[in-house]
Amino acid sequence: MERQFWFDSWDEGGSKTGFHMPVVHPHAQYLVDSGLLDGARVLVPLCGKSLDMPAFARRAREVVGVELVESAVAQFLADNALDAAETEPGVFRAGNLTILVRDFFDLTAADLATDGLGAVDVVYDRACLVAFPEAMRERYAAHLTGLLPAGARYFLNTLEYAPVMETPPFSVGPDAVRGYFGAAFDVEHVFDDDRPDHRMVAKFGLESLREHGFLLRRR
Ligand SMILES: C[S@@+](CC[C@H](N)C(=O)[O-])C[C@H]1O[C@@H](n2cnc3c(N)ncnc32)[C@H](O)[C@@H]1O
Repeated sequence: MERQFWFDSWDEGGSKTGFHMPVVHPHAQYLVDSGLLDGARVLVPLCGKSLDMPAFARRAREVVGVELVESAVAQFLADNALDAAETEPGVFRAGNLTILVRDFFDLTAADLATDGLGAVDVVYDRACLVAFPEAMRERYAAHLTGLLPAGARYFLNTLEYAPVMETPPFSVGPDAVRGYFGAAFDVEHVFDDDRPDHRMVAKFGLESLREHGFLLRRR
């Protein structure tokens, strides 16, 4: 989606930020329990005020979230009682957790190095790829791929539902994921869950919704 959509969403709050979960996402917990985060440098693109980040920070060496909207970052720091220092404009640090207020599409591997992250070991993507319409998803996939060194792991959560909607979160299934990432990553499909209980089913009158989790490895 275009940038203004997200500024408006955070300004309005309520159902416009209904993507925010008040608990650690089960897929994030899976990643924590997998051991892949231990000693790792973790990138959380489009991080919002996700509670997954503090859970990652308890195990990882460093966690870097990237978020476009500064008010979301302010909420995140306040909600988690983090006494962060703004070490340079738009760079908030609290212990091993760093939040960059930045457009993800402007982020470069050199930025990550200068902002203290270095090479990324693991990416966690929940509600990021699916936040964008088709053309932007391709751009996002290409940009993310370019940031990651060989061997990096990428956990990707997507929703696949019917009937499809032309608003976030967009429906993205396994074939599309392989289309975006199959050329540069090995793709393992680790979760494929029927979710009739998902909040979107009642909210939008959906006929079906599946929640997927993929664990990718950059070749
Ligand atoms: C659907 S929310 C997901 C937030 C988070 N991943 C979670 O699980 O709660 C997408 C987030 O990405 C942010 N965002 C959208 N476009 C962005 C961009 N180009 N760069 C950085 N953040 C962006 C939005 O402000 C919003 O907080």
